[in-house]
Amino acid sequence: MYNEGSRTAAERETAPRIRAAKGKRKLVMVTAYDVAMARLVDEAGVDMVLVGDSLGMVFQGEANTLKVTLGEVCYHGRAVARGLARAHLVGDMPFMSYQVSPEQAVASAGQMVKEGAFEAVKLEGGQVFAEHVRRIVQAGIPVMGHVGLLPQSVHALGGFRVQGKTASEADRIVVDARALEEAGAYCIVLEAVPPDVASVITHTVSVPTIGIGAGARCDGQVLVLNDLLGLSRAHVPRFAKAFANIGDVVVKAVGAYANEVRSGTFPGAEHQFQVVSGKHARELGL
Ligand code: KIV
Repeated sequence: MYNEGSRTAAERETAPRIRAAKGKRKLVMVTAYDVAMARLVDEAGVDMVLVGDSLGMVFQGEANTLKVTLGEVCYHGRAVARGLARAHLVGDMPFMSYQVSPEQAVASAGQMVKEGAFEAVKLEGGQVFAEHVRRIVQAGIPVMGHVGLLPQSVHALGGFRVQGKTASEADRIVVDARALEEAGAYCIVLEAVPPDVASVITHTVSVPTIGIGAGARCDGQVLVLNDLLGLSRAHVPRFAKAFANIGDVVVKAVGAYANEVRSGTFPGAEHQFQVVSGKHARELGL
C-alpha cells in the first residue's frame, strides 16, 4: 500500500477499476465542488466524484456552463481531492479548453492533472473529438466521454433539450459513443436521451455508461449534488431526484441562529471564554 498525499491506494477507485465494473456492479457518481461535501459523499461510498462544469450554474449562479475556466475547475478540483479517501476524482474540461485542437486538449488535460489533482478528465462530444480523446489517453490521462445532451453546445442546440428522439439522432449518438470507446475512453456519460437509446449504447459499448436523464438501463448514474440534496432554489431538471431537502434545513437552522442573536440567547455561557486568574486577568481589571 502506498500513500499519495492524503489518499491511500487501499480500496481506492481508479479508472481501470471503473472500466472493469461493467456488468458486475452499478456505478455511482455525484458532483462536488468543495472539501466539506467531498468528505461527505466519499463517506457515503460513491464510486466517482465529478467536479462538473455544472459549477458554473449551481455554484456561480450562471445560466449555463460556458464561462467556467480551466483555473476554476482546477481550484475546485484541489479542494475536492483533499476530501476524498476512496472515490475516483474526475474533472470536466471547460468550454474552449479542448475544442480548438488535440494539442490544446492534451495541454489542458495535463494542467488539470497537475494543478487540479484530477485522476481523469471528462469532455463533451463524440466522433468529432475522438482524436482529442485518443491523444489525451496516449498522454496517460484517462478520459470519460459525454454524449447526448451536450450543455456546452447549448446555443447550437437551442436550449437544454432531450437528444436522440428521432432515429437519425439516435443513430448519431450511438456512433458517437462507439467512436469514444474506440478512441480509448474508459467510461461514457449519457445525458438526456430516451432510455431505449441509452440501453442500445450500453449494450453496444464495452465500457460503462453513466446516465443522467437516460433511464435505469445504464451501467451507473450521476446526479448534480445540489439537485440530489434539494439545495437549489433555482430550476431543477425533471430527471433529477431530490433525496433530501437540505435547502429547508439550512433556512431553518440559519433562521434559528438569527432569532437567538436578536433575542440575546446566543452566545450562551458555554460558548464564551472565561478568564479565571493570573496576570492577564489583572491587566484586564477582572
Ligand atoms: O457538469 C456536470 O455536472 C456534468 C454532469 C451533469 C454529468 O457534466
